[in-house]
This record gives sequence, C-alpha cells and structure tokens, in this order.
Amino acid sequence: MSQSVLDETLQDLPGVGEETQKKMNSAGIESVMDLAAALPDELVEAIGGARDRASALIFVAQNKLRESGILEKEFISASIALEKRQSMIKCTTGSQNLNDLLKGGIETQALTEFYGEFGAGKSQICHTLCVTSQLPIEEGGLGGNALYIDTEGTFRPERLQQIAEGRGLDSGQVLNNIIFSKVYNSSHLELITKSLGKYIEKNNVKLLVIDSIISLHRAEFIGRGTLADRQQKLNGIVHRLLRIAEIHNIAVVVTNQVQSTPDAFFGDPTKPAGGHVIGHSSTYRIYLKKSGQERTATMVDSPSHPYGQTRFSLTEKGIADPEAKKMKD
Ligand SMILES: Nc1ncnc2c1ncn2[C@@H]1O[C@H](COP(=O)(O)OP(=O)(O)OP(=O)(O)O)[C@@H](O)[C@H]1O
Ligand SMILES: [Mg+2]
Repeated sequence: MSQSVLDETLQDLPGVGEETQKKMNSAGIESVMDLAAALPDELVEAIGGARDRASALIFVAQNKLRESGILEKEFISASIALEKRQSMIKCTTGSQNLNDLLKGGIETQALTEFYGEFGAGKSQICHTLCVTSQLPIEEGGLGGNALYIDTEGTFRPERLQQIAEGRGLDSGQVLNNIIFSKVYNSSHLELITKSLGKYIEKNNVKLLVIDSIISLHRAEFIGRGTLADRQQKLNGIVHRLLRIAEIHNIAVVVTNQVQSTPDAFFGDPTKPAGGHVIGHSSTYRIYLKKSGQERTATMVDSPSHPYGQTRFSLTEKGIADPEAKKMKD
C-alpha cells in the first residue's frame, strides 16, 4: 500500500479548507480513507452545505485511493478484479468443517453475518476469530489484530485467554492485540463505525467484530412507526462496514439475532432480524442452530458458495470440529 496517500491530510484534497477539515475531524473523519468511506448524508451533517458537495468530496477522496491502487477503479477488467480478489485473505474459524463451508475461512473485503438463536455460538465464533485472526497468514490467520465491538455485554477476556491457551498461544500477547469497545446505544454505534478508520490503520486491525449488529436498534426503535427510521440507520451502518472491509482489506464479522415468523408453517420458523437491510449488504450469511452438544451452520446467502450445511462444536479452545470428525482424521 502506498505510504503517501495515508500520510496526506484532508486539506491536501482540492475543495477542503482548514475550516472544513476541522469540522470533519470533529465528526471523526480524520484521513483520506475515512472520507472515502463516509456516506453523503453523514458528511452533510458534519460540514453542512449541500449534499452534492458532500458527494463530490467523497468522490475526490475515493479517486485519491483509486489512483494509489487502494480502492478499485470504477471500470476495471475482470483480470484486474481477480488480482484485487487475490489480495483477499481468509481466516480459519478453528473448525475444518466450518472452514470448508466458507471455502477456506472468513474473508477480508467482505461482511460475514452469523445469525441464530441464543446460545447458538455466535459470540463463541467471534471470540475464537479474535484469537485465530492473529495467527500468521501461513498458519491460517490474517496476521493482524482484532477489534471487538460489544453491544450486548457478552465480551469475555477470560474466555479469550482460555481459547488462546487451548491453542498453545501466549495469552497475554493475544489479549494485548484485541481492542475492545462496549457500546451502549445505537447512536454510539453509529458514531464509532464512522471513526473506525484511524484505529484500523494505527493498530493493524485485520478483523472487526460487531456482536451484535442489531440489538441496540431493536431495543430502541419500538413500534411500526419507527421501523423505517431504524432500517435507514442500520442501512447506513452496514454499508459503512462493507466499505471499511473493502478499503482496509479487513474481515468484518457481525452477529444477528433471529425473529420468529409465526406464519411459517413448514421448516424453521426463524428469520434473521433486520430484514433485507442487513441481508443485502452482507456478503455471506450463515445460520447457526443448536443440535444437541453440536451446532449446525448453514450457508444461506453467498455470491459464490453453493447452499451448504455442516457441523461444528463449541469447546474449551473455542470453535472446533465435532469429535467424530476428529477421530476420523
Ligand atoms: N468454555 C466453554 N467451553 C465449551 N463451550 C462453551 C464454553 N463457553 C461457552 N460455551 C458454549 O457456548 C454457548 C453459548 O454460545 P454463545 O454465547 O456464542 O451464544 P450466542 O449465539 O452468542 O447467543 P446470544 O444470542 O445469547 O448472544 C454455551 O451454551 C455453551 O454451550
Ligand atoms: Mg452472543
């Protein structure tokens, strides 16, 4: 990645003066990368003025990144697109079965959503990935650090310690490389996702976890009248997350709750919460379900994977394959 564009300040961009830069900074937009990942409406909120001007400034920032090869050009050949895809790396989940379902693991440049009922293992997967993502790329990791945004109060450092030790890693070091943020309300979550860029670059973050993406919005926006408002806000967050994944070449993992659909007479009467807002932005959607001591994972939606299902288990060292599979190996 070219060093120069990362060093450039916002004022180096045409159309950004000192005053505008200050306003951007106080809204958490501190670098060209942050601006490139901003949404027009939020920029208008930050700097005032017309939406057209905001869109133009974002475009200028994106162009800067395109020139230096950080962001994809608007029109590129399929072979260059393939090259870009090849800078994508995959992170092991700790279970070979689950890795196979994901064709290798959790991808960078993508948003992966795990949804399922309580106790299905969503938070366990998040905790495990925070550890495995730190492994070198040759060992199935992303060779970077993890950022964990907790909206449900279920982040457990001692569980991370256990997973790290179970995998023969130095738990002190592993914990040092996981940055954690507890988020209390939906506006706080929005604000944090706007200012993630600088943390990601400064701390070599390669995995971003949001556990869960919807609980705060679900609790705060109650009643049909507020549904459109909620969906619009969620839409902003997930779009921003996807851009962050692409711009910084990191893996973004979100968890989602399920809502029951009483009108479903056949099959599983549960659907991911948040409707298509999250579904349309998630690159991969995986449905987790309890099955005795084990768990099943189903690839529900993916641009490149066939529909598939597999089993994994929750163990001391985090996500693993079921015992039978291990014995077979
Ligand atoms: N140390 C451990 N060893 C083995 N299994 C564990 C351990 N800790 C937790 N588990 C398993 O993980 C399950 C909880 O999973 P998890 O917290 O990931 O659920 P979740 O999908 O995040 O649920 P929620 O919707 O409530 O957040 C427990 O029921 C238990 O089976
Ligand atoms: Mg959980």
